[in-house]
Amino acid sequence: TTQYNYILTSRPEPAVTLITLNRPKALNALCSPLFAELNQALREADDDSSVSAIVLTGSDRAFAAGADIKEMKDLEFSEVYKTRFLEDWAEMTRIRKPIIAAVSGYALGGGCELALMCDIILASPTAKFGQPEINLGTIPGGGGSQRLAHIVGKSRTMEMVLTGRMISAQEASDWGIVSRVVKEGDGEVVKEAIAVGKEIASKSQISVQAGKEVVNAAYELTLAEGLRFERRIFHGLFATKDQKEGMSAFAQKRKPNFVNE
Ligand code: CAA
Repeated sequence: TTQYNYILTSRPEPAVTLITLNRPKALNALCSPLFAELNQALREADDDSSVSAIVLTGSDRAFAAGADIKEMKDLEFSEVYKTRFLEDWAEMTRIRKPIIAAVSGYALGGGCELALMCDIILASPTAKFGQPEINLGTIPGGGGSQRLAHIVGKSRTMEMVLTGRMISAQEASDWGIVSRVVKEGDGEVVKEAIAVGKEIASKSQISVQAGKEVVNAAYELTLAEGLRFERRIFHGLFATKDQKEGMSAFAQKRKPNFVNE
């Protein structure tokens, strides 16, 4: 496996890759080389047919405290424009396998945006989400204003973006940013995220890929287009062995044996 400087990768379960942001002295601030490594590790997991789900986490203190302020503070418009600064962050939205964020501590600015690019977010009770860019004389640049608006609506997004207020794990759960808050304890949220990954790994991986694709379409298409897209993909799955196996197994009252074809 590849050696990285800013992240750690492991296989806590045969079908689950765990990626841990590992820049503790900077609270996992997302400098460019860190994001390049993250994208590479995600691509490797996506290309590895033995991997079914990816868990992304940070430390107990910080999932990630944002883009690296020290790296970007002196940049000029011409540089960020010409080099498409931060545009490579969106590469992770092209990963086909589910990415589960396990968030403890600070998820601020780019760290919040990173979590929002994942497919499922689980939070520990210590998690804090925020878009504090306004305090730096700027605004979110990694998709926060748009993705939050889709999830929590205008008023809450405006409050977060215009005041920089951090919200608690409980608020994030009440608002639908995270799917749930797990029980307290070091490592609990990662353990739970790995369990979700393992559960997903037990399904037909074709259906999992299709499920992720159609849910994501809901954020880009009109309702009519999205419904048509879902129906067509649903129809398409009748061409798979796993649909025949899954439904036969149900009728025969046995467990399905999926072959991912
Ligand atoms: N970039 C660079 N370094 C950072 C950082 C960041 N986003 N966040 C924290 N660090 C560094 C600190 O500078 C400090 O380094 P030194 O020890 O060398 O001084 C170290 O991490 C520890 O941080 P603190 O001493 O500040 O820790 P704390 O517990 O007192 O405070 C915190 C924690 C409230 C998260 C505070 O660090 C903080 O406010 N961080 C910045 C949060 C922020 O503004 N994020 C948005 C960044 S902009 C962005 O993300 C743009 C975008 O949309 C893409």
